[in-house]
Amino acid sequence: MRSIGKGAIILAALSIVVAGVALGSKPSPPTILEAVKGYSDWKKANASPVRLTTSFDLLCRGITPEEHQSHQKANPHFERFITVYVNKLGEQAMMKGGTFPVGSVVVKEKREKEKGPVVLSTVMIKREDGYNPTCGDWEFGALNADATKTDGEGKLESCMKCHAEQSKNDYTFKTYIGAKSWSSPSGYQPLKFGRPPSSPKS
Ligand code: HEC
Repeated sequence: MRSIGKGAIILAALSIVVAGVALGSKPSPPTILEAVKGYSDWKKANASPVRLTTSFDLLCRGITPEEHQSHQKANPHFERFITVYVNKLGEQAMMKGGTFPVGSVVVKEKREKEKGPVVLSTVMIKREDGYNPTCGDWEFGALNADATKTDGEGKLESCMKCHAEQSKNDYTFKTYIGAKSWSSPSGYQPLKFGRPPSSPKS
């Protein structure tokens, strides 16, 4: 018994030392790929995929108008379904409002069919104070389908041109929160770029 007690004390002391070292050495913040690991287990900001059907389909990927046109030609009923995930740190700000704390991560998946595979995702990570003053210290990134590669990351101009207008919502849109299910005839209509967000409930 005694030796077990001693062992426990030594272990406890050791773990304090280890924790101290870990705190002292300030680990570098996770990269985008590290930060999104396991995101599909996070909270979904919209319970079921939200359908975007609009001619305004340049949203959120920085595709060129030419790319967009050719996609629409190939498929006039071009539709996209989005699901947005938020990590634990960001949950409160996402669902209730306020400023997202440093370390918050938001992932927006895009599918071309409601139950189809993810075709790409976009990510926002809240970095430390001063990282990106024009856009709420968010870092932006685009991910390939299975979130194993980034196709651009950093203070991406192509993303900020829209998100910088959303300062009221800490540079997020949140239009999908409370949006009706994709199958609703009066379902979700995304914002036109530049308009302030309307009530997310309608
Ligand atoms: C043309 C305007 C526009 C551009 C450019 C844009 N976004 Fe968005 N973004 C939106 C809108 C609108 C939404 C709300 C959901 C929707 O309609 O897709 C959104 C939502 C998001 C979300 C979910 C969090 C939120 O804001 O509610 C993430 C993450 C995101 N965008 C990342 C990016 C990244 C990364 C880029 C650049 C590669 C980018 N966006 C470029 C308009 C834009």
